[in-house]
Amino acid sequence: MKIKLNVWRQKDATSKGAMVSYDLDHVEADMSFLEMIDVLNEELISKGEEPVEFDHDCREGICGTCSMTINGRPHGPQHRTTACQLHMRSFSDGDTITVEPFRAAAFPVIKDLIVDRSAFDRIQQAGGYISVNTSGNPVDANAIPIEKEHADLSFNAATCIGCGACVAACKNASAMLFTSAKVSQYALLPQGQVEATTRVLNMVKQMDLEGFGNCTNTGACEVECPKGISLENIARLNREYLSASLKK
Ligand code: SF4
Ligand code: FES
Repeated sequence: MKIKLNVWRQKDATSKGAMVSYDLDHVEADMSFLEMIDVLNEELISKGEEPVEFDHDCREGICGTCSMTINGRPHGPQHRTTACQLHMRSFSDGDTITVEPFRAAAFPVIKDLIVDRSAFDRIQQAGGYISVNTSGNPVDANAIPIEKEHADLSFNAATCIGCGACVAACKNASAMLFTSAKVSQYALLPQGQVEATTRVLNMVKQMDLEGFGNCTNTGACEVECPKGISLENIARLNREYLSASLKK
């Protein structure tokens, strides 16, 4: 396949970026999207040019680092698929593909396609944990009965990989879907009840401090989330927040 790639190039956090076009003549349909960028980078390096910097780790849809907007959609055109799991067979010979970093004030660009998503880490640190007895006498997890429905909903919320596509998809750059997934995975379990009040208050406070926008219920986050995190988690976050505020 022949592909024209328009890629956002930005030297560093303070430089002004711009789109740069590259022609690739030997793209295989079975290459992953990141492998296609690897091929471009090999060509650039062999010509003595700077490779396109992009984040990646697992390349298996698990780590959430391959954050990039492909043809205007976070992670690209394939539903519930991370950029690393997207394959070039999703495109056609002769296509022009535009690749940009995630755009959000709280995710400043570091270089090319890499953005700083440490705001998510700080939201997690504000409450994404539980207290566990590590004195040598821990309670066996299976000793605490949990309703199947709650276990399933909690597990589904816990599949959030922290990629940030929800923020990039939202016109307000809201982090509500991410934060709601992190609150929900504990709110639904007995183990999460000890810190339930402080968790939701502190995580929402940190989310606001990081400069994410407000949720206006457009639902774009749910559509673009590669893990299918449901808007129901945002409704649960709002309920948890209201109840915690009344207990304060
Ligand atoms: S909610 Fe979905 S889109 Fe947002 S960070 Fe989690 S996995 Fe990514
Ligand atoms: S590289 Fe890990 S999810 Fe894409």
